[in-house]
Amino acid sequence: MAKLLKNNKKIMGIINFIGLKSNLNHCGGKKNMERRSFIEFLAWSSLLGGSGILTSCAKLSSKTFAAENFLTANDIDDLYLARGLDFSFLIKESAVINNKGEKFGANSDFIAVIPISDSESYLWVNHESFHPLFVSGWNFTGPRLLADVDKERKVVGGSLLKIIKKNNSWEIDLHSLINARFDGTTKIPFANNVIVAGSKVAEGTLANCAGGVTPWGTFLTCEENFHQFYGDSDRANKQISGLYQWQKFYNNSSLHYGWVVEIDPKTKKAKKHTSLGRFAHECATCMTLPDGRTVVYSGDDNDDQFLYKFMASEKNSLDKGELFVADFDKNEWISLDLNKNKILKEKFSNQLEVLCYCREAGTLVGATPLARPEDIEIHPKTGEIFISLTNNSARKNYHGAIRKLKEIDHMSGKFTWEEFVVGGTDSGISCPDNLVFDKNGNLWVTNDIAGKNMNHGEYKTFKNNGLYFIPTSGTSAGKVFQIASAPHGAELTGPCFSPDHKELFLSVQHPGENATDLQNLTSNWPNKKNELPQSCVVKISGPLLDQLLSSDLKRS
Ligand code: FEO
Ligand code: CA
Ligand code: CA
Repeated sequence: MAKLLKNNKKIMGIINFIGLKSNLNHCGGKKNMERRSFIEFLAWSSLLGGSGILTSCAKLSSKTFAAENFLTANDIDDLYLARGLDFSFLIKESAVINNKGEKFGANSDFIAVIPISDSESYLWVNHESFHPLFVSGWNFTGPRLLADVDKERKVVGGSLLKIIKKNNSWEIDLHSLINARFDGTTKIPFANNVIVAGSKVAEGTLANCAGGVTPWGTFLTCEENFHQFYGDSDRANKQISGLYQWQKFYNNSSLHYGWVVEIDPKTKKAKKHTSLGRFAHECATCMTLPDGRTVVYSGDDNDDQFLYKFMASEKNSLDKGELFVADFDKNEWISLDLNKNKILKEKFSNQLEVLCYCREAGTLVGATPLARPEDIEIHPKTGEIFISLTNNSARKNYHGAIRKLKEIDHMSGKFTWEEFVVGGTDSGISCPDNLVFDKNGNLWVTNDIAGKNMNHGEYKTFKNNGLYFIPTSGTSAGKVFQIASAPHGAELTGPCFSPDHKELFLSVQHPGENATDLQNLTSNWPNKKNELPQSCVVKISGPLLDQLLSSDLKRS
């Protein structure tokens, strides 16, 4: 504590010296800064070390780097960034991406890079959903037209792009033959020639939320809320209606969706993995075992659903392996292998049936219901698995948590766990969703307060969704600092560092999603008044990012 106070005095001295103390009650001239955030900033800053912060501040303009850099919640209709950060657009919804005229899709989510060289990289971006009002003009009521559905099937899925580094910033190479769309019409086979609902091939990928990257250089894109498109049914044939009502025009089985899809950027081949199970897959986060096989973690983002782990049986492949589900009471993974579990053998006729109905199988074996498991990331230094549990409002868990799981031994199937951050007004974050670690092991988190709840009731004080920075070690471990605030109705998604770790790519998803008619738009971002809003991918850079990512970040 004495060291902390000493460093804080030094920082206050620096702030006084550069003439910023009088500005401490302002943030970007727009918002007051809470005392709690400032004190926590000082605590966090002490981690930089005395000489470290002097050197760093000396490099920065007094106007661009100060204690007031971190944001407090706000509700403006803009992508509002902490001082010392700026953004430009990497790509916007509907941009033409190749000479075939294919267009970048709607509602960008997961972003991932696989470097080709120091100045070239593959980029993958998910397109999770769309507002039909902005795509086809349909507003969830009135007659549904085939032509509208056909437009909508082209805006989901994902985009494969080539990015190149120019003048120290990354941009899309719009002339690259790599650029391609995988959408709701793309024919995608099931791995291992598995036949699902009478077919070895599914039509399209959709509801692509988060994902992962395999150790052998392929992208994993996850089909999350697939039931919204063609509907769904459980084994008892209870029907779930599709929000988008595509089932009125296309007789695609819902069993063809809800899978992890692997995309090889070199060949542009895709396959759907039945081995990883079918549910509302948020993500597919890979870890390599000492014997070279791959483990994949994934959550089922729905109230009271489960956390899953897949262990591949062969190196460099996810085609075959064993699926487990988490029991957080006994702290162990339970196999969903039909031949290892009596109750599954009694209730299911074969392993594919288990994999198609994971929710039922997980319930039967006693998996622990969770508060909507969303993104998962593995700490680059400790190997701990961080899991966003976004909320479970039906159980009055409004703000969720970020849980930390440590495997004791993959072979024994045992683990320990604890909550790393509990959502709420004390921590300053609600509904954590996407995660990414920087190279220093700091966690960057986006949150997802649903559009209908934002700025209301339990969620009022958190205002718009945002991006947050959370150190995982040192005296500020677990403290939350807000970095960005999203436009009205939007969710910031898919945070991903550029291949050189100098920029942060971020999706701004569904601005203005609450609009119910085109005459009453709730956001125009990033466009002018009265123009339709657009989902975009931005690249964020600036001295604050350099500072937060700098290798001289010291740990006390
Ligand atoms: Fe698509 Fe669970 O977020
Ligand atoms: Ca999400
Ligand atoms: Ca992530």
